[in-house]
Amino acid sequence: MIGIERDVIVVGAGACGLTAAKRLREAGASVVVLEARDRVGGRLWTDESSGALLEIGGQWVSPDQTALRAALDELGLETFARYRDGASVYVGPDGDAVRFTGEIFPTSAATQAEIERMIGVLDALVAEIDPDEPWAHPRARELDGVTWRAFLEGLSDDDEARANVAMFTAEAMLTKPAHAFSALQSLLMAASAGSFSHLVDADFILDRRVVGGLQQVPLRLAEGLGEDLLLSRPVREIAWSDDGVTVRADGDVVVRARRVIMAVPPNLYDRVDFVPTLPLRRHVMHQHLSLGLVIKIHAVYDTPFWREAGLSGTAFSPYQPVHESYDNSNHGDPRGVLVAFASDARADRLLALPPDERREAILENLARYYGEQAKHPAIYVESDWGSEEWTRGAYAASFDMGGLERFGADLRTPTGPIHWASSDLAGAGYQHVDGAIRMGDHVAAAVLEALAPMPV
Ligand code: FDA
Repeated sequence: MIGIERDVIVVGAGACGLTAAKRLREAGASVVVLEARDRVGGRLWTDESSGALLEIGGQWVSPDQTALRAALDELGLETFARYRDGASVYVGPDGDAVRFTGEIFPTSAATQAEIERMIGVLDALVAEIDPDEPWAHPRARELDGVTWRAFLEGLSDDDEARANVAMFTAEAMLTKPAHAFSALQSLLMAASAGSFSHLVDADFILDRRVVGGLQQVPLRLAEGLGEDLLLSRPVREIAWSDDGVTVRADGDVVVRARRVIMAVPPNLYDRVDFVPTLPLRRHVMHQHLSLGLVIKIHAVYDTPFWREAGLSGTAFSPYQPVHESYDNSNHGDPRGVLVAFASDARADRLLALPPDERREAILENLARYYGEQAKHPAIYVESDWGSEEWTRGAYAASFDMGGLERFGADLRTPTGPIHWASSDLAGAGYQHVDGAIRMGDHVAAAVLEALAPMPV
C-alpha cells in the first residue's frame, strides 16, 4: 500500500484540477493530484499522426476568454490566428454549396433579415442573464421549461432561419439535439461567451490557437508537481467526514487529506464510491447532467488547396452530416488541415456505419464544401470522446429539461470536505478551457479559506 498524507487531494489532471493544484501549492498547501489516464490534460490532448499535429480535444481561444489568455501569458505560450481569408461556404436545404462573406448565411433576403432579427432578440435576452447564476433570471423557470427548439418556434416561423440559429448552441456547442435541452441552457451557453452574437461570429469564438497545441496548458501546469502527480490512478473510493477524507485509487494508493477536489466531469462522479453516500439532492442532481456527442474529424492534405480556390476553409450547414468545418492548418507546417464536426443524432447515424463507409460519407460531405480534392486526404483521423472511458462525451455536460433552474444554484456547493469543479460547472467560460481555469482558481480559493485556521 502507498500511504500518503496531504492538505488537499485533486482528482483529475485536466486544466481545472491542475490550475487548482498550482494555486494551492503557491499558497503553501501540500497537494497530490490523482489522474485516471496515463497522461495529463483530460479533454485537452495534442497528438501527432505522421508528423502532423492534431488537436484531438479543445483547441481554440477567443478574445473574451481572459482567464485562459492570462494562463497562456503566465505559462509563456504563444498563439496564432486561425486562417480566415477568403469566402466561407454554406449548404442550405437544397444541398447546393454557396459562397459568402460575413457572418449571416447566404439564404434568401427575407431569411437573412429574420436571422438577424432573431439574433437581436437573443442578444437582448442574453444580456439580462448572469452566466454565473442563470437560475436567478426572473423568467428562469419558464425558459428552463421550454426546449430550445420550441422556444425558437415561438420566435419565428421561418424554418431555415430557425435551423441556423438553433445550430449555434445545439450542434456547435452543447452537441445535443435542440429538443433535448432548454432555452435557458442555450442562453447560458451564449451568456458564458458574452453574447449570442459572439457564438455566431466564428472569427471571434474560434479566433486563435496555441503554438504546439492547447495541451501545453495542462502540461506546463503539471511541471514541478513531480511525485505529487500520480498518473494511471483512477480514484475508486472517497470516505469522507467532517475531519477530512480518505481517498483510494488503483495501485493500492490511499491518501488522507483535509479536503478533496473532484475536478472531473459530473457524468463521472458516480464512478467513485462515496462513503457515506452523498446527500439525496446531490444524488438526484447528478442524474440530470450529461455530456453531448460529437465526432471531431481531422483531414490533412499536402497543401491547403481550398485557399487557391479563394476559400477560407470555413463551412456550415445545419442540413449536412458535418455541420461545421474549418481550416486547421498548423503553425509552421505547409500542409493543409481541415477540422470538421458532426454531432448529436448525426453522429449517431455516422457511428452506426462501418469505419470505411463513415469515412466515405464524411469525405463526401467535405467534397461538397471544398470540391473533389477533399476526398483524398493524406491523413484522416476521427476522434469521438464518447468512447473515452474517462470522459464519455463532448464537449461538456449540460442539464436536461428544467435541471438548470432546479439544481443550478447547488452545482458548485461543497459536500462537507468534497469540492466540485470542472469546466462543466463554470458560468463564464462554461464548457471551455477558460471556464476550467476559472473553476480551478475559484475552488482553490474556497479550499484555502476552508483550510485557514479559525480566528481565536
Ligand atoms: P477534463 O475532462 O479535461 O479533466 C478531468 C480529468 O479527470 C481527466 O484527465 C480524467 O481522466 C480525470 N478523471 C476522471 N475520472 C477520474 C477518476 N475517477 N479518478 C482520477 N481521474 C479521473 N474548449 C475550448 O476552450 N476551446 C475549444 O476549441 C474546445 N474544443 C473542444 C473539442 C473537443 C473534441 C473536446 C472534447 C472539448 C473541447 N473543448 C474546448 C472543451 C475543453 O476541452 C474542456 O472544457 C476542458 O478541457 C475541460 O477541462 P476540465 O479540467 O474541467 O475537465
